[in-house]
Amino acid sequence: MLSLAFGLADPALFPREELAAATAAVMADDAPAALNYGPSFAGLTDQVLGRLRAQGVEAEPENILVGYGSSQILALLPEVFVDRGDTVIIEGPSFMGAVRRFAMSGANLVTVPTDGEGMDVDALEVTLRELAARGVRPKFIYTIPTFHNPSGVTMPLARRQRLVALAAEHQVLVVEDDAYGELRFRGDDLPTLAALDAEGWVMRVCTYSKILAPGVRMGWAYARPEIIERLNMFKHEGGSGPFLTRVIARYAAEGRLDAHIAQLRDHYRQKCDLMLDAIGREFPAEVQAGRPDGGFFVWCRLPQGMRATALAERAKDEGVAFLPGVNCYANGQGEDAIRLAFSFQSAEKIQDGIARIGRAMRNM
Ligand SMILES: Cc1ncc(COP(=O)(O)O)c(C=O)c1O
Repeated sequence: MLSLAFGLADPALFPREELAAATAAVMADDAPAALNYGPSFAGLTDQVLGRLRAQGVEAEPENILVGYGSSQILALLPEVFVDRGDTVIIEGPSFMGAVRRFAMSGANLVTVPTDGEGMDVDALEVTLRELAARGVRPKFIYTIPTFHNPSGVTMPLARRQRLVALAAEHQVLVVEDDAYGELRFRGDDLPTLAALDAEGWVMRVCTYSKILAPGVRMGWAYARPEIIERLNMFKHEGGSGPFLTRVIARYAAEGRLDAHIAQLRDHYRQKCDLMLDAIGREFPAEVQAGRPDGGFFVWCRLPQGMRATALAERAKDEGVAFLPGVNCYANGQGEDAIRLAFSFQSAEKIQDGIARIGRAMRNM
């Protein structure tokens, strides 16, 4: 099966030799601490603070939590904040892993729609007002404002400002999941929600999975110290990865990670354009494909009446897989869209995969 389904980094660009060198250096210089129980490496937290500073956020070590991928941190959110029946606001569509995890916690998931500019903040305001009228304060709002998974869209500045202002007005935490934010390959950077927030209502969740390698299982969160402290209490293993935090810090020093990210941006731009060209050639003209400025995904609206799950079945017969939109909604929507990842397959396989999906569409 040729898969365009997953949000995986391109293994061809894993910096194997540099990571091997960093590992050898850690073993030579710092093995007792790296191989023992212990906290995550303070040097990595310092690097995270440097990245945050570059993103317009001044923070201290007590604002940072390092975890086993951003998935671990996202999974802690319902543990810390949600009792069965509490309300959590998410976007429709949203990251499948988060939707599932939040739903499993027994939260009442309220979906706010998105459009070509991300979360519809007018709809969010109405939702917050309606909930407030019923005495309900949501536990958090989960959003992916930059290179959204799955839709690929990026929220413009004015909406970001409004979202942060609404969070402060209603005193609701905004969780800004920024897994792809550093992988911009078109246009100019926008301020993160955390950079726009003066009152501590934004928590930021980031990962090394897309900019380095998912196998290192390393991510981090920025939030108010009392939130970080509470998340830490629920994070049963204490410090994350004394060994791997040292390896990543060693690898990333002296601008190596930034240079790697610059290379990734070029690479993913080429792959994205290649997929968009193939879609233009192979898909029926009624398919509306988004054009992302970064990240891993092209989101396609299907021709009227074509159901994503039925298309997935047809595509399986053609030997190709993608993510039907329904997996990305908590409210059953999404039969009208599919997500295609251009990130991890070779150029040839992307073209072949799109041709096969195009065939499945025409057969329908
Ligand atoms: C939006 C988003 N958040 C979080 C994650 C989780 O990444 P990880 O646990 O590897 O850090 C992913 C992975 O696909 C993602 O797309």
